[in-house]
Amino acid sequence: MRTLAVMTAGGDAPGMNPCIRAVVRTALNYEMKVLGVVGGFDGLIRGNFTPLGARDVGGILQRGGTILQTARSKTFLEPFAQQEALRQLNAAGVDALVVIGGGGSQRGALALHQRGVPVVGVPASIDNDIYGTDICIGVDTALNTIVDAIDKLRDTASSHNRAFLVETMGHESGYLALQAGIISGAELVLIPEIETSVEAVAQAIQDAYRRGKTHAIIVAAEGARPSVAQLASQIDEMEVGFTMRVTILGHIQRGGKPSAFDRLLASRLGTRAVELLREGRRGVMVGLSGREVVAVDLADVASRKRELPMEYYQMAITLAR
Ligand code: F6P
Repeated sequence: MRTLAVMTAGGDAPGMNPCIRAVVRTALNYEMKVLGVVGGFDGLIRGNFTPLGARDVGGILQRGGTILQTARSKTFLEPFAQQEALRQLNAAGVDALVVIGGGGSQRGALALHQRGVPVVGVPASIDNDIYGTDICIGVDTALNTIVDAIDKLRDTASSHNRAFLVETMGHESGYLALQAGIISGAELVLIPEIETSVEAVAQAIQDAYRRGKTHAIIVAAEGARPSVAQLASQIDEMEVGFTMRVTILGHIQRGGKPSAFDRLLASRLGTRAVELLREGRRGVMVGLSGREVVAVDLADVASRKRELPMEYYQMAITLAR
């Protein structure tokens, strides 16, 4: 294996840069040539490659985002686009590819593997919704960002006796909201995996008021229904004690310098991805299981759903008293 390509795809996640750095420097250590694909799968279709040396990945360990740029590519779902990507990889003399990204990106990696490209995936998504790894690159940093924001919201909430509905990202998963709810002491967590009603949320807010709390924090995953906007407008009409405010944390959750945990995770997974390719493994994604780095078939990653650890939901309720 002489030439390795590395790319980031899908939504960015803090820790992608340390992962790129780990892939590049591990490959250089094995005397491979490294090409970066610029702009995710769209960049791959266009053949947008850039050579990466040790200095090109210097000073990026602490930077959020991705120096290789990323994109959500609809085109890559088309067979002709995958064929064109294959042609570009061959034309550039690429022997193997590392794809760093979320669930959609791992499915893209699988499509290339099925077309004969030696590929290893690395999970990076703040949503933590990928089968085959306990945690994805970016989750820890996002949680730290969320908890910092909620700590600040609580200051103003208790000064004004208000209830805040705080929406987190997570796509269709409640993972981020649930973890954030526990570590920020939320009164209630709303996740897509568990049905709730406007009345139940209003009741939880009123209960907090009656127990003498100075504020209430409700953390809601973006995929949870009713949405925070629907909840706020309806609960405002009810007598719950607190006045209501809504904060949608949005894309700030995806930015910022990667945490110590994410830098280490990204370095471990990036290093292992290159080692696996050298060992002749293909069509797998690296992941963390307990404290160990493991390899999972991309076919399983693409077809299976990561279950939310529901014991956390009960814990969130118990600790909210
Ligand atoms: O997949 C990561 C994620 O941040 C989700 O939590 C969110 O639903 C989505 O991306 C937002 O995507 P975009 O950056 O395309 O607005």
